[in-house]
Amino acid sequence: MNIYCGIDFGTTNTVVSICGKNGQLVDSFSISTTLFIPEENQGITKVYIGDEAVAHYEENRPGRYIHSIKRSLSDKYFKYTVINRTRVTLEELLVLFLTELKKMIHAQWSITPENIVLGRPVKFSVDGERDKLAKKRLKSGFEMAGFKGITPLEEPVAASLCFENSLTVNDRKFLIVDLGGGTSDFTLVSYDPAGEGIGKYKINGVDGIDIGGDNFDEDVMLSTLSPQLGSSATYESYGNRLPMPVHIYRDICKWNKIRWYDKKDLAQEFTDYQYKSSAPGSIKKLKQIIENKLSQKILEKIRMGKHELAGEQLVQIDFDEHELELLMELTEDRFAEIISEKTDQILATMGSVLDHKYQDVDKVILTGGTSKVSDIQTRVRGVFSSGKVLQDKDFYNSISKGLALYAYYNDIKIV
Ligand SMILES: Nc1ncnc2c1ncn2[C@@H]1O[C@H](COP(=O)(O)OP(=O)(O)OP(=O)(O)O)[C@@H](O)[C@H]1O
Ligand SMILES: [Mg+2]
Repeated sequence: MNIYCGIDFGTTNTVVSICGKNGQLVDSFSISTTLFIPEENQGITKVYIGDEAVAHYEENRPGRYIHSIKRSLSDKYFKYTVINRTRVTLEELLVLFLTELKKMIHAQWSITPENIVLGRPVKFSVDGERDKLAKKRLKSGFEMAGFKGITPLEEPVAASLCFENSLTVNDRKFLIVDLGGGTSDFTLVSYDPAGEGIGKYKINGVDGIDIGGDNFDEDVMLSTLSPQLGSSATYESYGNRLPMPVHIYRDICKWNKIRWYDKKDLAQEFTDYQYKSSAPGSIKKLKQIIENKLSQKILEKIRMGKHELAGEQLVQIDFDEHELELLMELTEDRFAEIISEKTDQILATMGSVLDHKYQDVDKVILTGGTSKVSDIQTRVRGVFSSGKVLQDKDFYNSISKGLALYAYYNDIKIV
């Protein structure tokens, strides 16, 4: 069958693309990388993914909502989580997600791809051991889900195959900047317009860092919300006054805290903090978030607020559920300040892939959802002369389209 398939399994969104003979891109679809497993007495018989998973979670249906599996792949302490009294490893979670994804692919195009090109970030983690673990887990999850031939390809390398139309004969060296939900990746490419197919592109360097837009949401929650939840309060312990443990605030501000829900005694711990604290009202709110598993809903609100940010305008992010009322305010400037340490790290990684020779680059292409953050756009335009920087209009799909094109160029047919 002359069909070629690429899967971009993203931290936030998963995109599948297919192309046909002659390398023409046929179609793509995307879903959020989320799972919802309804509560049952024992075991897992039903799984929802994408929009359906989000809807179940939003409607407060009983069950487990899982977000950002990709970020947990590099977590060496994650052995399994317990869902419906059943131990589930990360690879098994991947299988649950991919089994549903395969059904969607079949419903969309009536195909069951066995061979695919699978995107992966340049670095799941800057720690080599964790990075290796994540790569291994990703591959075995796909294998366990029934994919037979899996060709991994760095996501920004895939993206580079998509931008031919944005380049001219003078653009001999270009840089792809792919800023996603969990990772930021960079590829430096030499482009030869006279070359054939994939031979037009020579990869000169790739680098990446495990920081993306989802980390920004967490930082916004940590700096704007945790003071309202008593992060600077103290509590009494055996005659001493101690500060509230920082790790609790870090934990609740995380998209991917699959492990964290396993701690059954956390609620009891909070009862102690509440009654011995200098800010009982704030600690009560913190407890409500934990008990009702609200942090992903709050992060979702923050994410929407982040997407609305523009210019001077003040964005109000309010949350009112389970008798919990919270209000956060954000402007672009405040957001830029909160994320500045992480944007510095992202830009430093970009500089290192170029060996800081910014002037050698003819064109820069910004892609991935986080490339919409205006502070980042401004900072990237500030280091290159601004006419060189292009914003990818199809930023959700470019990677998966590039993966499908790579499959075509290398004759990796779906069966
Ligand atoms: N308009 C916007 N403004 C700011 N951020 C945005 C906007 N649109 C999307 N994002 C952010 O982009 C991120 C998702 O981007 P993308 O779909 O490229 O990531 P991904 O491919 O799932 O992740 P990764 O490549 O890191 O695995 C999210 O953090 C999302 O909040
Ligand atoms: Mg991505």
